[in-house]
Amino acid sequence: MSRDSVLALQDLCVYFPLKRGAFRRSRQFAYAVDGVTESVGRGEILALVGESGCGKTTVARAVLGLTKPTSGSIMLQGVDMAQAPHKVRQEAGAGVQVVFQDPASSLSPRMTVHDIVAEPARTRGRPDGESLKSKVLELLDTVGLDTQHLWRRPHEFSGGQCQRIAIARALASDPYLVVLDEPTSALDVSVQARILTLLSALRDARGISFLLITHDLAVAQCMADRVAVMYLGRIVEKGPTHAVLSNPLHPYSVALLASVPSPDPTQRSGAAVLGGEVPSPVNPPTGCRFHPRCPQRTDICSHTDVRLREVSDGRSVACHLAPETPVGA
Ligand SMILES: Nc1ncnc2c1ncn2[C@@H]1O[C@H](COP(=O)(O)OP(=O)(O)O)[C@@H](O)[C@H]1O
Ligand SMILES: [Mg+2]
Repeated sequence: MSRDSVLALQDLCVYFPLKRGAFRRSRQFAYAVDGVTESVGRGEILALVGESGCGKTTVARAVLGLTKPTSGSIMLQGVDMAQAPHKVRQEAGAGVQVVFQDPASSLSPRMTVHDIVAEPARTRGRPDGESLKSKVLELLDTVGLDTQHLWRRPHEFSGGQCQRIAIARALASDPYLVVLDEPTSALDVSVQARILTLLSALRDARGISFLLITHDLAVAQCMADRVAVMYLGRIVEKGPTHAVLSNPLHPYSVALLASVPSPDPTQRSGAAVLGGEVPSPVNPPTGCRFHPRCPQRTDICSHTDVRLREVSDGRSVACHLAPETPVGA
């Protein structure tokens, strides 16, 4: 782990026990996250990308302390969130905030904008009254919301405005890390772009780190410094955003990219788009987990497990067939 990491995951595993069936003797698990090692540097934006069900939200929930890891470690600003004394963990955890996908349901309908945004600032021991109000006004201004909205409630706002309120709330406790779980997936495309621009500006102005979770490669492309591609609970490829998206090395990343519809039909790739479905994390395939859907699989892929290996500076891939150095590098 680099000394500058605000978040470091080491071999993180989160297994969910399934309800025991009447005829099943042994306990079964959903291997939602199965050995994730990754870090986020200060002021860095890391995108965790992959299809629905690959374990992205479970990683986020573990980082937020909402789901207990089965094994592995989570370090926040160098604090081991399983081992450190309670007070130290509490302090490190307080600097991590989240913005969820659905703006309307993540904001309490009965609270005013003022109270929603003031709440985290209050629990961080900030003074009440006028100074709290001016802090809230300043935050609304930062996220581009008209300050005359102060006493309105969430239902009076559009989806994009609600997401701005959620961002203001996240900023209220001066976080060093904000987890964004599909922050723009519920918004219209034009609103999406404005929210992403706002988030990028916040990173630049405040040096906040983001763990950006998205199934949308275009969102990762426009915001992230690095991407980690997840498949069935594991990272299969990671590296600088431009490198991974312009020259993906893992067949899964290639397929994900090919499935993004390009606005320009002459630019659309003829590569095979993903067939079949994501297998269940209860009985993940043997060998490489992607092999049943991989157009390039060979014998080794179905029986020999494969872990991430570094192929060039800052780039890693978990594929038996990936070249030692990236093509064209
Ligand atoms: N509380 C839970 N109990 C059992 N299985 C779960 C639970 N939460 C998530 N899962 C399973 O873990 C896998 C990963 O889910 P999730 O992290 O939500 O994926 P993503 O956010 O990438 O769509 C899915 O198969 C999901 O059904
Ligand atoms: Mg999710």
